[in-house]
Amino acid sequence: MRLFHPSAFVLVILSSLVNASVTVYHQIPLAASTTTAASANYTGAAAYDPTVLNPPPVPAGLTTQFGIQLSSSSPSGLSIPQKGSFMGFSIEFSVINQIFGVNATYLQVPFLNLMAILRERAGEILIRVGGNTQETAVLVDSLPGGVMVSKVRGITGDVTSTPMLLYTAEVFYTMANISALVNTKWFLGIPFNDTSNLRLGIAEVGEAVLSGPGYLLGFQVGNEPDLYAAHDARPSTYSPSDYFGEFGTVVSAINNDGNIPVKNNLIVPSITGQWTPESVWNTGLVETYSSSLGALAVEHYPTDNCYALYGIGSPVNPQDVFQNFLTHNSSISIVAPYLNSTSYAQATGKPFIMMETNTASCGGLPGISDTFGATLWALDYGLQMAYSNFSNAMLHVGGQDVYYNPFTPPPTNQSSYHEWTIGSVFYSTIAIAEAFGPSGNAQIIDLQANTDSMLTPAYAIYENGTPVRMVLLNYVSDPSGASDYTATISIGGSAIGQGNATPAQIQVKYLVAPSVSEKSNITWAGQTFGGTFQSDGRLMGSESVQTINCDQSSNTCRVSIPAPGAALVFLSSSAYAESGNPSTQTFSTTMVTKTMNTATINPSVLATSNGISGDTWELGSTSKENAGTGLRNSLSIVSVVGAAVLSTGMLCTWFWS
Ligand SMILES: *[C@@H]1O[C@H](CO)[C@@H](O)[C@H](O)[C@H]1NC(C)=O
Ligand SMILES: *[C@@H]1O[C@H](CO)[C@@H](O)[C@H](O)[C@H]1NC(C)=O
Ligand SMILES: *[C@@H]1O[C@H](CO)[C@@H](O)[C@H](O)[C@H]1NC(C)=O
Ligand SMILES: *[C@@H]1O[C@H](CO)[C@@H](O)[C@H](O)[C@H]1NC(C)=O
Ligand SMILES: *[C@@H]1O[C@H](CO)[C@@H](O)[C@H](O)[C@H]1NC(C)=O
Repeated sequence: MRLFHPSAFVLVILSSLVNASVTVYHQIPLAASTTTAASANYTGAAAYDPTVLNPPPVPAGLTTQFGIQLSSSSPSGLSIPQKGSFMGFSIEFSVINQIFGVNATYLQVPFLNLMAILRERAGEILIRVGGNTQETAVLVDSLPGGVMVSKVRGITGDVTSTPMLLYTAEVFYTMANISALVNTKWFLGIPFNDTSNLRLGIAEVGEAVLSGPGYLLGFQVGNEPDLYAAHDARPSTYSPSDYFGEFGTVVSAINNDGNIPVKNNLIVPSITGQWTPESVWNTGLVETYSSSLGALAVEHYPTDNCYALYGIGSPVNPQDVFQNFLTHNSSISIVAPYLNSTSYAQATGKPFIMMETNTASCGGLPGISDTFGATLWALDYGLQMAYSNFSNAMLHVGGQDVYYNPFTPPPTNQSSYHEWTIGSVFYSTIAIAEAFGPSGNAQIIDLQANTDSMLTPAYAIYENGTPVRMVLLNYVSDPSGASDYTATISIGGSAIGQGNATPAQIQVKYLVAPSVSEKSNITWAGQTFGGTFQSDGRLMGSESVQTINCDQSSNTCRVSIPAPGAALVFLSSSAYAESGNPSTQTFSTTMVTKTMNTATINPSVLATSNGISGDTWELGSTSKENAGTGLRNSLSIVSVVGAAVLSTGMLCTWFWS
């Protein structure tokens, strides 16, 4: 469908790729030295890139003591109600077999463990499976070797070298089995590469398998249509009104398809910023097709690394842009162009979703995307989107070749001796899950604390008109301790014409690392996933939560925030318990020692095991036997029954903790 001259194509790319969320599919060769476990510390793939940048200089004159006055009732400017599942994941379709497992019977335990951590706090996890590969994906009856996904290269021929993806219905069974274990809910995408020959199998089979139990949230129709022209997927003149027309074709086909029972869960327009959202709204798309639409969505990366990969756009020196991420100004300026749209979405009764985002497109930036600086950035950015009335935000997960993954399984041929690498932004998702909790009724406000510094932002979260939690951040990286700050928090009080409402004590969980450049030594309430290749998806170490006594006579609580670091402050014991913090009793059970790090587990074993404890569990595995067994290879299964779990509607659940 090349309707214009190849040289024009190149020019379009140059001007439009900057904000493109391009996922790169070329496999970067692993280093030759990775032949033994002992020498396999660095493989050469971006996900394990050892680049360490210098933190930005310590600012002079930072205000290190300031007060934060909270209203004891709902202040104006609170967001719409938010859920603990606000921040989810966008997983590139082509990598799901690495992340989820080979098929519905053999799931990746580290992935389930990570999701269990979030489920315990938020009740559910939202995951979008898609990306560039969704557009050309083809559902087939079976694939050679019994695999559930397979890439066919060189078909689509666009600039992203996106492979054509073949997949079987086993993908949906795999998702269903994951959902049954950890309550994941899914967004999928209907292929949009050829709307005169639609392939609606994903909706027909996907809904048959996933919507009964309520695991399917909706279908994107079109992924980044504002980049179609640049990617040579449509004529150079492709515009919002063309998209409007093609979307109508899909709506008619779905309305006429008796195998698609749900007609109102489509998601548009998933644009990246080449078109303004308004240029799409102004076509009348939402009003015309309101009864077909479940949500509105966009995708966005604040910067890109495309020059390093393709030699196009402008070169980005990571050291020069690191500081741009380490300020509250980053998230404020990213959301600003969407504020009109989140208000439009509310007016039209649709959720507004950031369907795919991360630090930088074209794979992220070395020394930034996988650091504690990115942890703080993603935390602030997520909370800022929530405050700005987005309904959800999905952090993108690519393959081995990107720097920004929240989690990365080891390369397949290293899975017998390496574990997973948990990216620095995964910690941000835990903090956000706890900050909002599972009530679905959390409203957040950006407090504009200490407004003379964009380096020390703060948010408050209210439920039912009562302040319940706060998040305080410090972007400064200063090992001397001189840039730690103390916030003196007051709730209510005569200063604002309310009764004193400061509690006797508060609890605080810290998210800290020695520096914003740190990649491994990141802790959430004292626990960590460790560094490269070190995680089975469980937090390691003992949890440490600070209890701070407040001064009720002066109506103040003093909380210190390290530089760099963030604190989640629980303003009451019920606010603490609600976010999955036990009170819940846990029971350790006997566990088999698995023979290798990447054990997978047969979900039927779990499904039939609720209530049993201490029996022998049989673990399946996709990898060959390996002699290296040890304590850290053992997988403990813990049953959890208690208030926090009951409040999410579950009677009993199993997770790995
Ligand atoms: C693992 O696979 C990569 C990519 O196919 C290859 O370059 C590398 O040599 C393999 N390593 C081992 C230890 O087999
Ligand atoms: C799932 O994968 C395992 C391991 O590769 C294989 O033995 C099994 O046959 C597969 N199951 C299905 C239903 O394809
Ligand atoms: C889980 O996977 C097995 C094996 O493919 C399948 O038979 C079963 O139906 C799946 N369970 C769910 C809830 O989809
Ligand atoms: C906000 O969006 C609406 C709907 O597209 C549009 O009519 C209006 O002009 C926009 N306002 C601004 C300030 O962009
Ligand atoms: C978010 O929505 C609420 C409720 O409509 C509104 O009061 C608030 O001003 C909005 N916030 C922003 C930042 O637009």
